[in-house]
Amino acid sequence: MTLADLVGQGKVAAVIDLQFGDTGKGKLTEMLSERFDVVARATGGNNAGHTIVHNGNEIVLHSVPCSIVHDSEGKVSIIGNGCVISPDDFVDEINALRNAGYSTDNLFVSTKANVIMPYHIARDRAHNASQKNKGIGSTGRGIGPCYADKVARRGVRVEDFLDRDALYARVAKAVRFYPDVYGDVGERKAREIAFDIVEKTERSREVLARYAAETIEKVHEFLRRGKKVLIEGAQGLLLDVEFGTYPYVTSSSPSVNGAASGVGLPARAIDFVLGVVKFPYQTRVGGGPMPTELGGARSREWCANPENNCERELREFGVEFERGPRGQVIYDRFHERINELKNSEDEFEQGVGIRLAGSEYGATTGRPRRVGWTDALAVRYAAMLNSPDAIVLTKTDVLAFAREFRVGYAYATPTERAIQRFDPSPRFLESARPIYKTYEGFERIDLLGNGEQELPDSLKLAVKELSDFVRTPIVAISVGKERDKVVCLRECRGK
Ligand code: IMP
Repeated sequence: MTLADLVGQGKVAAVIDLQFGDTGKGKLTEMLSERFDVVARATGGNNAGHTIVHNGNEIVLHSVPCSIVHDSEGKVSIIGNGCVISPDDFVDEINALRNAGYSTDNLFVSTKANVIMPYHIARDRAHNASQKNKGIGSTGRGIGPCYADKVARRGVRVEDFLDRDALYARVAKAVRFYPDVYGDVGERKAREIAFDIVEKTERSREVLARYAAETIEKVHEFLRRGKKVLIEGAQGLLLDVEFGTYPYVTSSSPSVNGAASGVGLPARAIDFVLGVVKFPYQTRVGGGPMPTELGGARSREWCANPENNCERELREFGVEFERGPRGQVIYDRFHERINELKNSEDEFEQGVGIRLAGSEYGATTGRPRRVGWTDALAVRYAAMLNSPDAIVLTKTDVLAFAREFRVGYAYATPTERAIQRFDPSPRFLESARPIYKTYEGFERIDLLGNGEQELPDSLKLAVKELSDFVRTPIVAISVGKERDKVVCLRECRGK
C-alpha cells in the first residue's frame, strides 16, 4: 500500500503539521491529492508558503491549495471560510499560475473568508513583523490584525468585499479603529480614507468575484455525492492560537479542529488525520521559545536580523554558489563546507550547516529559519491534540553526513532534573533545557526502490523510538523534494 492509498481510505482527510510549520506539507498534499476530488485550505492566509515540485518546476503557493496543479484534470481546490485572503496577492498568485500554464477554473474562495485590508498589513508591519526585542516576528502579511477584526466583528468578508457599497460602509467604520495607521480621524475623514481604499480594489474585486462561492454548502454537497475531501493544513500546531506557544503564535488554529471548522465541517467528519513531522531536526521562524535550538540565543538573534538570508550565510561561511536565471542562489546542499559545518564543535555552526543543507529560509519572507533537534515532547503534545492516525517524517535526507544526530526526549527545568512533560507556555519553555538521546549519523540516502531496507540502522532505531514515544505509527519518511523520494515503512505497507 502506498501512502496515498493509506490516507485515501478516509472520506475526509487532513494533513496537519505537528511542529512550527514548514514541514513540507505542500509536497505531501500534492502527492495525496491524486486520491481526493477536493482539496481545501482551512486556516491562515498568504503567511504560508507551500513549495512543490511539479513537472520539474518548483512552485511556491501562498493561499491557493497545492492541488491547483491538477486543476485541468477537474480537481477542485477551495480556500475555506476559516482562511484570510489578501486580494492583491491572490491576483498575483493566480496570474503567476496562469502564466506558468496552470488552469484555475476549479478554484473556489469562500464568501465567508475574511479579507486582509491595507490597514491590517500596515498595523502588522508596524507592530509584529520584527522579531527583535522579543517581538513575534510575524510574516507582515496582516494576518493577526485581520483575524482580530474578524473576532471583533468588524471584519470584511469576501461577500462584503465584492459588494462595493457594503465594502465602503465596513471600511469607513473600520478605519476609525486604526489611529496608529490613519491618525485620530473624524467621520468625514474616515469616509474619504474608505473611498480611497475601495477605489484601489476595483481590479482585485473583479478577479475575486470569479472565484467566490458558498464553499461550505459546496463541501457538503460534494460529500453527499460521494466525493473525497483532503484538507491541507497550514502552519503548525505549535503556532496554534489556542494550543501553541502563545503569544508567539499565528492568529488561526492550525489544528485538526481548525481544519474542520475552517472548511465548514464538524470535527467528527475528519476520518483520517496525517501528522507531519520534520525529523531529526525542526525549525521555527519568528520569535518564541524553542528549547532545542542549536546555538540558543545566538541563533535566535542571528535569525532575527533582517539582513541575514541564504546568500549572506553562504558568503559568511565560505560556501561557493552560483546565480540562476532568476537571480536566485544555487549551491550544492551537500557541499563539503556545509557538511563540515554540520559537524562543527560549535552548535550555532551546526545549525547553519543544517539550515543550508535544508534550504531553511522562509518561502514567504526569505528569513533564516531557526534550527534545532526534533523535540519529541513537543511532537507528542501536538499528537495528543490532533490524534493523528499516522505520521510522516520529512526532510530526513538533510542530516546526511552529520556524524551524529539527536532527539530531545526530556527537559531539565530549574526545579526538576528530568521531566517528560510539555507545557507550551513560553515561561516554561524558556527555562527548559532539553535532554537528548544521541544516534549515529548516516550518509546520503539514495533510494533504489528497496524501501525501508535502504535506511540506515540508526535512523530506523530513532524512528521506532519516536513512534513508540508518540504512540502513533510512523508510516513514511520523505527524503527529498521529488514525489518519488518517499520511503513507505512496514506500518504503511502492512495495512
Ligand atoms: P503571522 O501568521 O504572520 O501573524 O506570524 C505569526 C508567527 O507565525 C510568526 O512567528 C511567523 O513566523 C509564524 N508563521 C506564520 N506562518 C508561518 C508559516 O507558514 N510557517 C512557519 N511559520 C509561520
